[in-house]
Amino acid sequence: MTTIAIVYHSGYGHTEVIAKAVARGVESIEGIRLLFLKADEAQKQLDALTGCDAIIFGCPTYMGSAAASMKAFMEASSKVWMNQGWKDKIAAGFTNSGSQSGDKLNTLIQLMIFAMQHGMIWAGLGLMPGNNNSKGSVHDINRIGSFAGAMSQSNVDEGPEKSPIESDQQTAELLGRRVAEITRRWVKNS
Ligand SMILES: Cc1cc2nc3c(=O)[nH]c(=O)nc-3n(C[C@H](O)[C@H](O)[C@H](O)COP(=O)(O)O)c2cc1C
Repeated sequence: MTTIAIVYHSGYGHTEVIAKAVARGVESIEGIRLLFLKADEAQKQLDALTGCDAIIFGCPTYMGSAAASMKAFMEASSKVWMNQGWKDKIAAGFTNSGSQSGDKLNTLIQLMIFAMQHGMIWAGLGLMPGNNNSKGSVHDINRIGSFAGAMSQSNVDEGPEKSPIESDQQTAELLGRRVAEITRRWVKNS
């Protein structure tokens, strides 16, 4: 069976909403087993991750870069890196932040470089940008206009039950679905 892991960190629950949306997308494709892991737990489950066909990484943007718990996971994975245990697995990423930009592209780039160091194959979002014309709105899919992965934004004065908004969750769901479809094809032809 094709197995896809989501490894994520969320300090205050907003990014977890997005991680769950990515999970819904993954599970919308038949025949996929999902491993849903917080970055702290994932550090102790590196072997389980080695058994997966794809890993999707996600975390909030803190101080313009990946949250520290995700960095700790990344550094712990150097044990796997030694033997290139995740080589040729599909990888993708998502990040949430308080500002529309908030420098969160830097977080996706960090996740992407991390995947590259592991010899993984990075899948971008694969969606056209939304909210970039006179008829657009924040309710568009990919309203932040990201290509490297799924970006979302949550208001700093609202809890995860309100923010990030539905369009960000739908965008994340589409990332999960895309990774599942790509991984299924990759596994079938390998
Ligand atoms: C320590 C810290 C640093 C942050 N740095 C940024 C930042 O650089 N850019 C930004 O837009 N938001 C920043 N934020 C806001 C968070 O990205 C935002 O609140 C996000 O929703 C938190 O996700 P979480 O609830 O999953 O932890 C920061 C928040 C914290 C706690």
